Amino acid sequence: MFSKIKSQFMLDPKIIHLNHGSFGATPKPIFNSLVNWQKKLELNPSKHIYDTFDLLKESRSALANYINCDKDDIAFMPNPSTALNTIIKSLDINPGDEILSSNHEYETLDRTWKYISKKTGSKYIQVPVSLPLESENDFIESLLKQITSKTKIIFLSQITSSTGLIFPIEKICQIAKEKNILSIIDGAHVPGHINLDIKKLNPDVYTGACHKWMCSPKGTAFLYVDKKIQDIIEPLVISWGYDSDMPSHSQFLDYLQWQGTDDVSSYLTIHDTIDFLKKNNWGNVSKQCKKLNIWARNEINKLLKIEPISDDRFLGQMSSIPIKSNNILEDQIEFYSKYKIQIPFFKWHDKEFFRISIQAYNSKEDIFKLLEALDKKYNN
Ligand SMILES: Cc1ncc(COP(=O)(O)O)c(C=O)c1O
Repeated sequence: MFSKIKSQFMLDPKIIHLNHGSFGATPKPIFNSLVNWQKKLELNPSKHIYDTFDLLKESRSALANYINCDKDDIAFMPNPSTALNTIIKSLDINPGDEILSSNHEYETLDRTWKYISKKTGSKYIQVPVSLPLESENDFIESLLKQITSKTKIIFLSQITSSTGLIFPIEKICQIAKEKNILSIIDGAHVPGHINLDIKKLNPDVYTGACHKWMCSPKGTAFLYVDKKIQDIIEPLVISWGYDSDMPSHSQFLDYLQWQGTDDVSSYLTIHDTIDFLKKNNWGNVSKQCKKLNIWARNEINKLLKIEPISDDRFLGQMSSIPIKSNNILEDQIEFYSKYKIQIPFFKWHDKEFFRISIQAYNSKEDIFKLLEALDKKYNN
């Protein structure tokens, strides 16, 4: 679809890559930026480690500008799980408190909430958001009617991992603020995929992965925390920023931004990442990928005689398709080994699904090959 952009990715051409959503993929200019930062570090490690404070500040500025928030309200994190564990373990959660969520959340975070609920005697409530998702109001109402006087936190993905749906969370964040409920948003799939404007959304906490749809090197994510609650955030790992000898203006940054001898090179590639996205008119890339995704989903559903799990307007660059499979793990292996197609298969509650992701390096040709393989596998 975008042959010039495709040529900048380092992906194995023998494989049809339809799984960008899981681990991203990094094009050469951004990967070279990573290597250059690592080379700089090796020239003079002792100096570079101390230079990183200023360098990280510049990187935070560039990212904050891209997602519209204050640079001092975000800290780099290796991944969304670390970011959300930092938050969840910092909060004062008491017996009886309720954490309202959906049944579409990423499993490791369900596990984290269940862990903390068990420890604190609080209740993690996974409100069923039923499929097909066809109405914004139904989504909002299904959550709002579960709010009680005990609801302390609302936790939601902006784009869900298993079902690949864009949840309309704007109104939920607004209502949470009005009701004094903490809103924590898992935006792992959002940056570089759909527009992210933190100031407009106004959540209390937000995390996003840059290594997915922004195509940053692996291990590049961020944690945003509203200034009003930054003082209660504790680091997962106590290091030099805790009880610092040279505290900066922000305890939040002191606590989270120096975590021992860590390689922060991937965080320093943010300038080059955003530069790459701008040069390649990424807004248009996402728009075209979304079009191809919707076309692909409709063709797959037609071929397999499956009803769509949502209206098109809840889709971005990913689609999940329910499938009747005897063994999803075997199916995933078969698609990879026999057809050279990389797609994840998984169980969501009691149903089996596979998911496709469309990125700039994909084309209709990839989908034709997928359709052929699906036809052979499931229609015979
Ligand atoms: C919606 C969502 N949240 C959180 C995560 C966690 O990412 P990680 O395992 O890299 O921390 C993922 C990973 O794919 C995800 O899809």
